[in-house]
Amino acid sequence: MSRQAKSLGIFLVASPALLFFALKTPAAPAPRQDEVVKNQPEPTPPAGQTYIGMKNCSACHFEQYAIWKSDKHTKAFEILPEKYKTDAACLKCHTTGFGEESGFKTAADTHLAGTTCEACHGPGSKHQEICKDFATAKKLSPEQEQLARDSIYKLLPTNACIGCHTSKAHKAHMEYDKE
Ligand code: HEC
Ligand code: HEC
Ligand code: HEC
Ligand code: HEC
Repeated sequence: MSRQAKSLGIFLVASPALLFFALKTPAAPAPRQDEVVKNQPEPTPPAGQTYIGMKNCSACHFEQYAIWKSDKHTKAFEILPEKYKTDAACLKCHTTGFGEESGFKTAADTHLAGTTCEACHGPGSKHQEICKDFATAKKLSPEQEQLARDSIYKLLPTNACIGCHTSKAHKAHMEYDKE
């Protein structure tokens, strides 16, 4: 047997053991604390909330507002060709809460035009009410923070994105006249 073949033989015998160690030794890292928290089921926010609009949300969440402001979602209503700006078939995906009592109705509802905060987080009137009590607090107590977080969805549970982005669910965007 040549030297090379011998070392190949040794390698082949040794490799299952090496593979075993390779898979085994870097033990799966313990989940980080924030991951544990993230994996907790979302609480169900109180029912019967109405839409309050992007400006109200942003008053307390300026950081998220600034990020959202640079997002295409802000323009989702503006980009509609003029004749579609009153077309119900388009508005349900290009505005926030269209067809619901307190949702977008006309172009005058600028704070619900486009994909605004509540299109992804759900209506937040009660969340606002609850948070008003400690809006000026420097630091929230754990109880206050819990109350605030439990009163709004981190993300609507009902396929929030795919509800509008049907093209990502293998369905074509509906046809329209590009003017
Ligand atoms: C009066 C102030 C106030 C208003 C108005 C307000 N929020 Fe909040 N919100 C808070 C506070 C306080 C928290 C908890 C601490 C934090 O995450 O900043 C919170 C938390 C959240 C969270 C995190 C939820 C979670 O599960 O972690 C989301 C999402 C949110 N708000 C969205 C909104 C949206 C959307 C609106 C508008 C409908 C809104 N907020 C209006 C104060 C407010
Ligand atoms: C089911 C939800 C839904 C409906 C209904 C809908 N759209 Fe859209 N539209 C979207 C989404 C989501 C996008 C972003 C691109 C994508 O994911 O397909 C978009 C993108 C667009 C764009 C930008 C396209 C581009 O090339 O940048 C225009 C313009 C548009 N839609 C017009 C309309 C018009 C007009 C109607 C009504 C006739 C309509 N949409 C109905 C969800 C919808
Ligand atoms: C296109 C959907 C979408 C829109 C529009 C949107 N958000 Fe969010 N937002 C999310 C998602 C998804 C998360 C959760 C991110 C995570 O878990 O890391 C989130 C997280 C948050 C949080 C929790 C803290 C954080 O940053 O994780 C706050 C507060 C918040 N959003 C406020 C707002 C406000 C205010 C607006 C409007 C100015 C807004 N969001 C618009 C999808 C959206
Ligand atoms: C209420 C309907 C609606 C919801 C909910 C929604 N979107 Fe959108 N999204 C749109 C529309 C309409 C556009 C097109 C806006 C434009 O082109 O100005 C868009 C644009 C986008 C774009 C930019 C696409 C591009 O061509 O650059 C991304 C990325 C995106 N959405 C991701 C998401 C994600 C992720 C979620 C869920 C967390 C989500 N969207 C929820 C309607 C929605």
